[in-house]
Amino acid sequence: MSDRPVAGDVVMTEPASARLERAPVLEVRGISKRFGAVRALHDVSFALYPGEVAGLIGDNGAGKSTLVNIIAGSLQPDSGQIFVDGVERHFESAAQARAAGIETVFQYLSLVPTLDMAENVFLNREIFAFGQLGRWLRWMDKAEMRRQTSEGFSRLGLTLPSPRTKVAALSGGQRQAVAIARAVIWGGHIVVLDEPAAALGVKQTEIVLSFIERLRAHGVACIFISHNMEHVMRVADRIILMRLGEKIFDAPAATTTAPDLVALMTGAISARTV
Ligand SMILES: Nc1ncnc2c1ncn2[C@@H]1O[C@H](COP(=O)(O)OP(=O)(O)OP(=O)(O)O)[C@@H](O)[C@H]1O
Ligand SMILES: [Mg+2]
Repeated sequence: MSDRPVAGDVVMTEPASARLERAPVLEVRGISKRFGAVRALHDVSFALYPGEVAGLIGDNGAGKSTLVNIIAGSLQPDSGQIFVDGVERHFESAAQARAAGIETVFQYLSLVPTLDMAENVFLNREIFAFGQLGRWLRWMDKAEMRRQTSEGFSRLGLTLPSPRTKVAALSGGQRQAVAIARAVIWGGHIVVLDEPAAALGVKQTEIVLSFIERLRAHGVACIFISHNMEHVMRVADRIILMRLGEKIFDAPAATTTAPDLVALMTGAISARTV
């Protein structure tokens, strides 16, 4: 459990010393990645602490997705190191990163619309009835999967329809909530969200943003990529700004403003002037 503020609380800026006293849950050091002649990332380092939401911003092609794909194991860096809970890791696949507690939620989530919510939460991690025989015959223990799903949702304070509801019948925002909840139910303590609210309506976006705030209250660390400054300024504790593959700004959100960040992003001003 964490004592991080939740929506509605007065958010106080934490002194830098308090941040340094804790150990980062994720640290990347000197990550570089090229795609042929394109230098997608150059020597990127940052640290993420438990219960911290980092807003990862930058113009199109700045390297944001490449960076999170490397963290999530779907791409491998040319050089650099990744530490999870202080231990250096080399992810060769997204499955290996997931096993280390890093879950990724993309705009078009890896949910199967024709399956119900519980089946989606347990996708590739099904519980089978009747032991080995059940596993072999793929007899799923749906009652237990639904029970654990409901329990997980209520633990996160999520009110969603019955776990029997097919994902096809959920709204975009509710689908996002299922995808994020799945990440947390499976013990993800680092959640990466690449443009989770793009193409969502106002109400659905609200569900996603308040859910990120709830994840933070549970001590989960998040990396939130968005082009929407208002969303970023609302949920991020810290802003990491990328430009042409390099990290050019990394500071508490309270110390900056959206217009300054936009000016930095477009190169209108340099990081030294902020
Ligand atoms: N698989 C790939 N092959 C070749 N080049 C790539 C590949 N993936 C990304 N790039 C290039 O790397 C650079 C960084 O791309 P990336 O997708 O990380 O940017 P981004 O910050 O996520 O942008 P956006 O905001 O548009 O999503 C771009 O120049 C892009 O064209
Ligand atoms: Mg991207």
